[in-house]
Amino acid sequence: MELRVSSRRLLRPLLAALLAASAGIASAAKGQANLPPLNSMEARVAACAACHGDRGQGTDNDYFPRLAGKPAEYLYNQLVNFRDGHRKYPPMNYLVTYLSDDYLRKIAEYYSKQRPPYPAPAQPRVSASTLARGKQIVLNGDPARNVPACAACHGKTLTGMEPAIPGLVGLHADYISAQLGAWRSGVRRAKAPDCMHTVATRLSDDDIAAVAHWLSMQPAPANPVPAPARSSKMPLQCGSEPQSATGDTSR
Ligand code: HEC
Ligand code: HEC
Repeated sequence: MELRVSSRRLLRPLLAALLAASAGIASAAKGQANLPPLNSMEARVAACAACHGDRGQGTDNDYFPRLAGKPAEYLYNQLVNFRDGHRKYPPMNYLVTYLSDDYLRKIAEYYSKQRPPYPAPAQPRVSASTLARGKQIVLNGDPARNVPACAACHGKTLTGMEPAIPGLVGLHADYISAQLGAWRSGVRRAKAPDCMHTVATRLSDDDIAAVAHWLSMQPAPANPVPAPARSSKMPLQCGSEPQSATGDTSR
């Protein structure tokens, strides 16, 4: 599985964002552009659009995630994680370094309310048996290896669960497998107990490829909103989504 990312591919959109921002400032200085007021939400998120789309819908870059419609608390946790070094991607770490909790919360709320259309589901790039394995793990888990069903926490329609579990539809296969790889190696961390670290360490490389490809091929449901908080009983405890009782006996 290829988890390495070409830095040129990742840095080009950042350069584009910086160039667009400086071009905007230059033309505003000449009085030619209608820039949004400096402290408006449009101005805050202008630098994000090159990589995440103007409404957080994502772009066709395989490593840039959709943000729109994910629960606000989840998005907020991620911005804090980038700021505090629990997730590593230098442009993101840099952009949020000096932003306050309050500012990050407002950005998270903005993207959580956006409802831009989803991209067309990905075309199959792996065998039918790999996809069947992916579907099995996502919907039912693999009891023999103690892998819980992804849908138990990410929702039956895979659109996440309030307040802090993200949807898994509308993401690229390469992004999903990179995140699972990062959790396994400890590069990405969430609040303890970090259930996604536990889940990722129980998956083989082939399992990760299988779930990532199957997920990327799923169309969004008609009403793509996260399931209500506590609408399903989680099989493991997650620090970012506390539930009082869990059925986990395996840790
Ligand atoms: C140069 C491209 C780039 C720019 C500009 C950028 N991002 Fe990101 N962002 C990424 C990438 C790539 C990731 C995934 C990184 C990883 O592998 O963990 C990410 C991840 C995120 C996540 C976590 C998403 C999730 O589902 O876990 C959030 C939230 C986010 N970005 C918000 C922002 C905001 C807000 C801005 C503007 C202030 C911004 N980004 C600007 C590339 C970018
Ligand atoms: C016990 C509950 C639970 C189970 C089971 C679970 N997840 Fe998660 N998942 C979470 C939580 C909580 C987060 C958010 C963690 C954080 O705050 O960073 C998450 C985040 C993710 C993300 C990050 C999405 C993004 O936008 O960056 C991916 C990918 C993911 N899970 C994939 C899976 C897959 C695939 C499975 C099944 C093999 C699975 N999860 C099973 C609770 C769970």
